[in-house]
Amino acid sequence: MEIYVDTANIEHIRHAAELGFITGVTTNPSLLAKEDPNVDIKQRILDIHKLVGGHLSVEVISTKKDGMLKEVDEILSWFPEATIKIPMIPEGLSAVRELSRQNIPTNVTLVFSPTQAIAAHNAGATYVSVFMGRLDDISQSSGEVIYDICEIWDVQEYDSQIIAASIRHPMHVIDAAKAGADIATVPYNVIMQMLKHPLTDKGLDAFLADYDKMQSKRNK
Ligand code: E4P
Repeated sequence: MEIYVDTANIEHIRHAAELGFITGVTTNPSLLAKEDPNVDIKQRILDIHKLVGGHLSVEVISTKKDGMLKEVDEILSWFPEATIKIPMIPEGLSAVRELSRQNIPTNVTLVFSPTQAIAAHNAGATYVSVFMGRLDDISQSSGEVIYDICEIWDVQEYDSQIIAASIRHPMHVIDAAKAGADIATVPYNVIMQMLKHPLTDKGLDAFLADYDKMQSKRNK
């Protein structure tokens, strides 16, 4: 399962990219606004693209197909490798169908159920983003939903990629990987939590302390 970073924060993206295992970035209008409500969106997107270079999903804000397609032209004029993030609404699916005809990659976002996921796939989505944390927020098991969707993909042999999104903690990443999601897009703080284990820190402290002991004996 690939790991993308889910943020618009340049410092976090810079550090995440240096870690060596991040293959993409997802953004959304809320993540961009959180960093700076006056952010120059085009510049920020280009800065992010320069840092990671792999997958970068950029979300449209229109709710009508024509408006979405106009935004797509603009985003692709910034950089042609963009993946276009489109909301899971009927007009969005219609835009996805059109973009798929043009071989433009799309990421259908705000997917919360297997039937929404099937519709997004059938419209021609390249990626389907299943929001886990927001499901748990309303007491619906995100583990069950991601598992059901991944099982459908296996049975039906669908070739679109499932992105586990709205990740709030490392257990979501584990659930997504066990279910068979292709990608998890993970906030920076959760990426750092994924790497931490107290026994790693304790073990390293002990190795370094023992090494220092050896050195001081040698120098006596
Ligand atoms: C990613 O594509 C989504 O925009 C993101 O994961 C949403 O996460 P949230 O539910 O924590 O806002």
